[in-house]
Amino acid sequence: MDIEHVRSRFIKHFDGSTGYIYASPGRINLIGEHTDYNGGFVFPGAIDKGMMAEIRPNGTDKVKAYSIDLKDYVEFGLNEEDAPRISWARYIFGVCREMIKRGVDVKGFNTAFSGDVPLGAGMSSSAALESTYAFALNELFGENKIDKFELAKVGQATEHNYCGVMCGIMDQFASVFGKAGNLIRLDCRSLEYQYFPFNPEGYRLVLLDSVVKHELASSAYNKRRQSCEAVVAAMQKRHPNVEFLRDADMQMLEEVKDEVSREDYMRAEYVIGEIQRVLDVSDALERGDYETVGQKMYETHHGMSKLYEVSCEELDFLNDIAKECGVTGSRVMGGGFGGCTINLVKEELYDGFIAKAREDFRNKFGRSPKVYDVVIGDGSRRVE
Ligand code: GLA
Repeated sequence: MDIEHVRSRFIKHFDGSTGYIYASPGRINLIGEHTDYNGGFVFPGAIDKGMMAEIRPNGTDKVKAYSIDLKDYVEFGLNEEDAPRISWARYIFGVCREMIKRGVDVKGFNTAFSGDVPLGAGMSSSAALESTYAFALNELFGENKIDKFELAKVGQATEHNYCGVMCGIMDQFASVFGKAGNLIRLDCRSLEYQYFPFNPEGYRLVLLDSVVKHELASSAYNKRRQSCEAVVAAMQKRHPNVEFLRDADMQMLEEVKDEVSREDYMRAEYVIGEIQRVLDVSDALERGDYETVGQKMYETHHGMSKLYEVSCEELDFLNDIAKECGVTGSRVMGGGFGGCTINLVKEELYDGFIAKAREDFRNKFGRSPKVYDVVIGDGSRRVE
């Protein structure tokens, strides 16, 4: 994220005037995947990569938005019927609409934005974009009356209502609440959260990006969510208090085995295990027991691959290489269907692991995975 770059493009693209610059990060997630929309726990952290936008109210009722990276320009109004068709602009439009629904008097503005969080890599570039605008509009038009919890929900509602992804709250929460050097353990039902300083001495966190982007990711994602809800509905006949899979255990799942599809059963089996793994990992972190953290990460990968079925050949391959190299923990990160693995690796194994991953992956798939060292950074902010 480069302030000078954003500013120079803003000035060039608009009338030479300047505005305010805001930024929000993407995220990693140590463990707790597909648990957020099941009322469970997640363990994300913001990263040092994200989105940056310059914004200046323009005295009209139109938003004039320029994507610096795509060199694409769109204008749209602020009423429901003004929704732009182009997908990147829908995020900004959606945030405007969700802020208006919450009583913020959003007016027209000029904006240019750019990002360095890779798109479609499971690092939440879209949440970074949503949080940037939610935070900015709150300051510029809302006198900061919307609190940070609600800003995260604005981003989530944008996904639901304007982008067709029925996501949970993890990505937007991590983007808004991120804190340098800390992971966040978040209870996605109550939104209670706790910062965990994360500085695993002798280990590194590294992402390996398979550069696989799945076109159908959003519909497959929504389908996973429906499976979870179907299992909850079946359980509610016996246990009316079950609101989410968070409230269920394996025995309750066994009870409905014959009433749900085999596929839905597998999805729920994964989620119930995963919610417990997050708790196990937070206990292990308190003890500084990174071996257990790593072992749970492998278990998550196995569940995501075999039960939740959101991995792919490339990600399974990267996971296998990690295992072969003695990497402490490795798993597919984020929604899945492509993107990255997150790896917890001992310092002394790092170079060998990265070299082998690059070489073996290239031999098999004809290209190299991208490598990102994780730096845990701050959440949404005004930059200057
Ligand atoms: C995507 C969603 C999140 C979460 C993850 C999987 O990133 O946006 O809400 O469900 O997938 O953990």
